Amino acid sequence: MSVLSFRCVAAAACVALGVAILKAAAGPAEVAQIKPRQDKFRDIGGALKAINDELKKGRIDWDNTVVPNAQTIKDRSAYLLNWFPKGSGPEAGVKTYALPSIWQKNEDFVKLGKAAQDEAAKLNQVALSKNGNALKTEVDAMGKACKACHDSYRSGDYEKEDED
Ligand code: HEC
Repeated sequence: MSVLSFRCVAAAACVALGVAILKAAAGPAEVAQIKPRQDKFRDIGGALKAINDELKKGRIDWDNTVVPNAQTIKDRSAYLLNWFPKGSGPEAGVKTYALPSIWQKNEDFVKLGKAAQDEAAKLNQVALSKNGNALKTEVDAMGKACKACHDSYRSGDYEKEDED
């Protein structure tokens, strides 16, 4: 079975199972956050990857690739902490990799979110400065800030089920 169809089957099963739980545990407004939040994270992930790919090439295209993608990361991550209302975790009954610890250790989660926002702002500045060495350093720092949160608050199943 392909990775994609596995995810679809799992999601369908979760939706069916979740309908009853959903009414009791989480309101539709919280549940409705999950899909758009995953889409926005994918945007951020794609943008960071595009910058990384640019570094691997010999010649960095600042204007068409690095600057706009750094802007996307900064703009999107500015709202990241709003995407996790209580009730939008696994109890929502739809497929999500968000772990319950987000709400149990929320102070720490918020701290990591803010740290990532700081790195995104720095990345944006470095993009505008068009300094290749600084870009390499900052892309690494940005990646570490993302990973720090994923290590604690995103289910390890994501890595098993998804390639990127
Ligand atoms: C404060 C915590 C936090 C930070 C910081 C963070 N993420 Fe995430 N990310 C999550 C959580 C939690 C999920 C799972 C969301 C879900 O499944 O509902 C996630 C999911 C994702 C996904 C998978 C989306 C999907 O379902 O296909 C990608 C890609 C991603 N993040 C990229 C990034 C990148 C790139 C950064 C840094 C620029 C970043 N994230 C920063 C917590 C974070």
